[in-house]
Amino acid sequence: MTKRFKIPVHLAVIMDGNGRWAKKRNMPRFMGHVEGAKSVRAVTEACVELGIKYLTFYAFSTENWKRPKKEIGFLMKLLNNYIDSEFSTMMKNNVRFHTIGDISRLPGGLAKKLEETKKKTSKNTGLNLILALNYGSRMEILAAVRQVADDVKNGRLSPDALDEKAITERLYTKGMPDPDLMIRTSGEMRISNFLLWQLAYSELYVTRVLWPDFRKKELLKALKEYSGRERRYGGVEAK
Ligand code: FPP
Repeated sequence: MTKRFKIPVHLAVIMDGNGRWAKKRNMPRFMGHVEGAKSVRAVTEACVELGIKYLTFYAFSTENWKRPKKEIGFLMKLLNNYIDSEFSTMMKNNVRFHTIGDISRLPGGLAKKLEETKKKTSKNTGLNLILALNYGSRMEILAAVRQVADDVKNGRLSPDALDEKAITERLYTKGMPDPDLMIRTSGEMRISNFLLWQLAYSELYVTRVLWPDFRKKELLKALKEYSGRERRYGGVEAK
């Protein structure tokens, strides 16, 4: 693939619209998730080809536990199958796997499988693939603030030394660059408790395309738009 576009170092994605995709076709919601998982594969593959270094998918939020038990069970099964079927591709494509969020609450040996996959891919040096699972940004920030309070209380950190880095280092995303671009599908203009700290200066791209229809062609459209954006980080245009 030719690199016609400016390539973000870190791309973050809110995958939305699986349910609507299925409903439009008179299919049960879970079929939307099955097709959505295919988009995860397609977008990951395209990011490997493009040389993107970090790719984060919002796969399951802390709020998603409010969904019907059957749908949650299906999503967990899909995730399980995804890890099983994608592991060899990850190794082949030099992909390093990570998660953000509290995975200890995930059912049926899934947490163990995710930890094993992280460990087995930890020497890979290509794309860093990050799944946000049982992830909520306010919870993440709160946990970081608690750690800071604890460190101050125990004399490990002086309040005067408290800076942005002190928070950044205590987030799940420790060591990862902030997203340059965040894509949200299905037209909703919300951040939905996703990477609130990390998205401070990210470019946002919202498309009405539903996630199961978001494949390489749509990704290239988003990158084309991103390439035309000028990032000023609160400063002024460079002359
Ligand atoms: C949003 O669509 C999608 C989710 C909450 C789950 C995302 C999961 C997948 C794409 C599939 C499995 C993931 C992996 C990593 C294999 P929605 O159900 O909220 O759609 P709606 O807003 O149209 O109802």
